Amino acid sequence: MAESVHFGSREVPLAEKQGLVDDVFRSVASRYDLMNDLMSFGLHRAWKSALATAVDPPKRAPFALLEIAGGTGDVAFRLIAAGGEQTRATVCDINAEMLEVGRARAAAAGLGDIVTFTEANAEALPFADRSFDAVTIAFGIRNVPRIEQALAEAHRVLKIGGKFVCLEFSAVDVPGLAGLYDFYSFNVIPALGRVVVGDAHSYRYLVESIRRFPKAAEFAAMMRGVGFARVTHQLMTGGIVALHSGWRL
Ligand SMILES: C[S@@+](CC[C@H](N)C(=O)[O-])C[C@H]1O[C@@H](n2cnc3c(N)ncnc32)[C@H](O)[C@@H]1O
Repeated sequence: MAESVHFGSREVPLAEKQGLVDDVFRSVASRYDLMNDLMSFGLHRAWKSALATAVDPPKRAPFALLEIAGGTGDVAFRLIAAGGEQTRATVCDINAEMLEVGRARAAAAGLGDIVTFTEANAEALPFADRSFDAVTIAFGIRNVPRIEQALAEAHRVLKIGGKFVCLEFSAVDVPGLAGLYDFYSFNVIPALGRVVVGDAHSYRYLVESIRRFPKAAEFAAMMRGVGFARVTHQLMTGGIVALHSGWRL
């Protein structure tokens, strides 16, 4: 029987998941950044700042960053701002529509030569072994059908001594917050999606996919399993988000 994976709360054949995920991001691309602000009350900015602090790009040395599933470039732009003049970012994403929004944002910010946008699948990165000083992925890994394959690719393209940092939704670990968070996620977010993007269905998938993603300790074990060393994680905002780090040594 064909292997199956989660697509939100549904089980779908492994080979079908990516196409369904691509439909979601094609539908939301033009309003993606606005929806992030609305859905998270701007909190995604603080979570992404924590990721930038964990990466800590140097101010005075060359630094090559790969942002996997980087979509509209939001995380890459923050890392460029945190780094020095010699920081360069490559944003890769499987979705041409998300990348197109990112390219336009980069051009408008005068970052066309600093940030490169590449259409690529996280499971098969078109980059040489040991190419990057840091590899990041933010709110992307839960959408990838073969998570371990994507983690192994992130590890492969990191230089020895390079750091991988992953930001992803996790599981709320504060009892009073859990019910409120569920209500907000399953009712308010799809309704916002309907009003702002004209698409409640995609936002229902995004919420359901969060619930299906491995817990933080399990994800840390997956990172160790593909070779990352000194893996650590921290939960933020009562467990709504987890930040995992690991090194290629
Ligand atoms: C929630 S968005 C995150 C975008 C960005 N990192 C941010 O935080 O603003 C998830 C992104 O993952 C991308 N994605 C999904 N599956 C992918 C895959 N197999 N390889 C690369 N990107 C993928 C989607 O196209 C989408 O742009």
